[in-house]
Amino acid sequence: MKQKIVIANWKMNPMTPKEAKRIFIGTVKGVAHVKGVRVTICPPTIFLSELSKENKGTKVRLGVQDLYSEDAGAYTGQTAPAMALAYKAKIAILGHSERRALGESHGMVGNKVRHAIHKGFTAVLCVGERERNDEGAHFTYVREELEAVFAGLKRVELANLVIAYEPVWAIGKSAAEAMQTRDLYEMSLYIRKILIERFGRANADLVPILYGGSVKGDNAAAFVRDGGVDGLLVGSASLDPKQFSNIVTTVSNT
Ligand code: PGA
Repeated sequence: MKQKIVIANWKMNPMTPKEAKRIFIGTVKGVAHVKGVRVTICPPTIFLSELSKENKGTKVRLGVQDLYSEDAGAYTGQTAPAMALAYKAKIAILGHSERRALGESHGMVGNKVRHAIHKGFTAVLCVGERERNDEGAHFTYVREELEAVFAGLKRVELANLVIAYEPVWAIGKSAAEAMQTRDLYEMSLYIRKILIERFGRANADLVPILYGGSVKGDNAAAFVRDGGVDGLLVGSASLDPKQFSNIVTTVSNT
């Protein structure tokens, strides 16, 4: 059985290193006893230096919310793979819908995923439709997002790929407005089917599929139990160490 995965996406929060440290240390303590779950926190990169002093000897790994597709040079505002690796942050969320909304194309996301994997990262590729309708256009949309990246990937690279399905309409809402687990189950099977079509079953099975979008303490268990996913990508609830630790504990027990 694959190890379960829970990733915290702090987005552009919190505002000070002191607060970042408080949340980080609270989370490290809160998940210390949990078994069978790989926990990664992706803070704003500006806090990596501070937080990398706090996770030595703990099970919490550091990651980044984005990573550029070049090694160095004139790319104002970008983070190079080597910069993240200097703080042992080896997991990169890529193609998050909030970055795609700022203009990241399928092609750019594909380049980032390939480059990150070549540099030794685990790439967490985010996909998800903006809206749903009765015609099922969301399936076509997710297929397009996946195939744009898969086209440039080799089978061996799949060992370092994670897919995070995050329907945009379900991000940043309350637990009650989050996705229904039966709809998640349908989509996770569909994503697995696309992986199998392109890479074969044995390779496809290596790729964990996560769910993200309004994951809270009270709906986390249902997503993992009934949604057919291997873990969760958590936004706002990850800024509350108690709630995030509860989510990780729940995933471990499910
Ligand atoms: P949310 O964010 O948990 O606040 O909905 C999830 C995400 O965007 O990764």
